[in-house]
Amino acid sequence: MKKSILLLSVLLVSASMLQAEEAKVAVGNNGIGIPEGYKNFRLIGVSQRSDDQTLRAILGNDVAIEAARAGKTNPWPNGTILAKLGWKHTPSDKFPAATIPGDFTRADFMIKDDVKYASTGGWGWGRWIGMEQKPYDKADFAQECMACHSVVKDQDLVFTKPVKLP
Ligand code: HEC
Repeated sequence: MKKSILLLSVLLVSASMLQAEEAKVAVGNNGIGIPEGYKNFRLIGVSQRSDDQTLRAILGNDVAIEAARAGKTNPWPNGTILAKLGWKHTPSDKFPAATIPGDFTRADFMIKDDVKYASTGGWGWGRWIGMEQKPYDKADFAQECMACHSVVKDQDLVFTKPVKLP
């Protein structure tokens, strides 16, 4: 009995430490905070950008993954969160023909809520830079995001098509 109380308190303490860890990331200037649990999102796509030498993993929360698997991504459903994590691309020192993720560059997010975020294309936009996760501080930055993403306005402003799986 004593043991299980001890175990429970250890679990509670570590759970609250984990929360404090996530809470340390500052909220963006548009009031959007970094989505909780995004490091456990699942894979939707990958990309490599030659203009800034980065590798990216595009991840989604459960709502996004369900929509991707069902092919129902135009529009993406409310509750979808898409994350794009980037790393500098670096040749592997063990096998130079392989390009592997180097320094972490940033985390970008699109959060779907067509009522709450009606004025920004139905998406809440967020960006946190580097390992320090410093919020992108440009005023009204969603306009910059949308200007480029408008290239794919017929795909609900989303570039990534979910990867094909066997
Ligand atoms: C100059 C163009 C450009 C700008 C500006 C831009 N993006 Fe993107 N974004 C892209 C492209 C191209 C992709 C898909 C491929 C990639 O970059 O990995 C993408 C992908 C994404 C994805 C993954 C979902 C998708 O659409 O494929 C998210 C999330 C994202 N961007 C968020 C943002 C946020 C937040 C901002 C503003 C802070 C922003 N983007 C600004 C070009 C842009």
